[in-house]
Parts: sequence; C-alpha cells; structure tokens
Amino acid sequence: MPRQFICPGPVPSSQRRAEGVLSWAYGLLPVRGWFARVMRGDFWLKRWEDNEIRFHQDRINRYLERFWPRLGLGRGDRVFVPLCGKSQDLLWLHEQGHPVLGVEISPIAVKAFFAENHLEPGCRVGPRFTRWTHGSTELLCGDFFDLGVLDTQDVVAVYDRASLVAFPHAERRNYVRHLTSLLTDNVRMLLVTTDFPSHEMDGPPFSVGEEEVCELYKDAFNVCLVHVQDALADYPHFRERGLTRFEEKVYLLTSKD
Ligand SMILES: C[S@@+](CC[C@H](N)C(=O)[O-])C[C@H]1O[C@@H](n2cnc3c(N)ncnc32)[C@H](O)[C@@H]1O
Repeated sequence: MPRQFICPGPVPSSQRRAEGVLSWAYGLLPVRGWFARVMRGDFWLKRWEDNEIRFHQDRINRYLERFWPRLGLGRGDRVFVPLCGKSQDLLWLHEQGHPVLGVEISPIAVKAFFAENHLEPGCRVGPRFTRWTHGSTELLCGDFFDLGVLDTQDVVAVYDRASLVAFPHAERRNYVRHLTSLLTDNVRMLLVTTDFPSHEMDGPPFSVGEEEVCELYKDAFNVCLVHVQDALADYPHFRERGLTRFEEKVYLLTSKD
C-alpha cells in the first residue's frame, strides 16, 4: 500500500556523525561547500576512469518501467535525469515520447552512452557544460550544481535513481535544495533510494531512510512511498561487504500547489 508521510523531525546526530565518517571512505574530506564538491566531482571522475561503475545497470530499471506510468505524464513532457551516468533508462524515457535532459559530470560516461547505443550526437562546448544532443535527448556534461533554471525550462518530471543516494549526508540537503530550485510548479518525481544499516557499509550508495527523504522534500513535495523491495540477493557484492539488509525504496513525489 502506498504510504503518505507525516514528516518527522530531523535526522539524529548519531546518524549524521556516522555518515561524516563515511565521507572519508568516500575518498573525501568531510567538509562542506565548494571545496567538498570539487573533491567529490574528482571522486566520480576517477570512478569512471577506473571503470568502477557497478551502479550501472545494463537493463532498464525495473521500478522505472513499473511505476513511471503512475506519474500520469504525456508524450512530449520533458524529463530531467540528474546524475544520469550512461543509464539505459534515458533511452526508455525517450521511447515513452519524453524529451530527456540529463546531467553527468564524467565525459567518459556521456560519450559511452552515445557510443554504446550507436547514436551519433551533436556536441557543443560551452562555458559550464558540454552539450551533447541526439534528437530530443540532451546530455549536459558538467557539474549538476552549475545548472540554472534556464537549463531546466519546461521540465515537468524528474527521475532520480541512485542520485540522491550518491551523496553523503552532509551534501544531500544541498542536492535537494539545488534540484528544487531548478523546478517550477507542478512537477512530479520518481525517486529510487537505497536503505540499509549504514554502520555495516560505507557508501556510495548511501542509506537514505524514509524519514530523511520526507524531511528533505517536505517543503516542496508531497512524498509517497509506493514500494519497498528486499534486494540483498540482487547485490551479492553488498552482502560480501557485510550488509545484512538492503532495501530499494520507490517514492512518487508531487509538488505542493
Ligand atoms: C551512482 S551513479 C548513478 C548514475 C545513474 N543515475 C544510474 O542510475 O546509473 C552517480 C552518477 O553521478 C555522477 N555525478 C556525481 N556527482 C555529479 C555532479 N556534481 N554533477 C553531475 N554528475 C555527477 C557520477 O559521475 C555518476 O555517474
């Protein structure tokens, strides 16, 4: 049954402390602001250089296919995919008739998306982003935090799989604040998160529980949990890293007003 949330209070300080330590494992200093962001960008660039991309799925995400229709969108509605990697989900969204806008920091990922799908994109280098386009699919290669409202004009829906959970706790509010600042009224979102005992495994992905999702989005969105999947068996490498529980959670968000 879908659950609508009454948002509780802030995340406990014990969790914040635990995740502050985790950000060391992320290969980064537990600091905030511009410096932390640059460091984290480097972390992801290196992951792509080293081909450490276990988060990438060769198939369309099962929750996208199952729950996307619930957003009630039409063909032609523009969809934003923050931190898109080289996800096959971009293709699926395009096949549903959506103009797709993705942002991804790694040029390796962006080039691989087009090459592996046998697409020949146009490419325009700009001051903030290199803009790769093929038909109505547009990938901006650069830093999500450099996006402005003009880039996301006409976006009516967001698909976030493994994006919110890519950030350690200290950065998640910045991510959500920036994302919501880019969106206009009447936006819908499909959000897929990971939830596990955070003391058992360092991220990314990080564990983001229901209370935190609700706390992060409560000002701008109504949050509805529509599915919880016990997914530990699907990720044996997480079990090898000591995880005893690993859930994927799917939320539908609709903007307030
Ligand atoms: C966990 S992966 C998820 C990718 C994709 N959503 C998927 O489902 O395969 C996170 C992605 O975000 C990208 N990324 C991290 N920080 C970024 C930033 N500040 N701006 C743009 N992309 C970023 C990484 O390079 C990586 O491809």
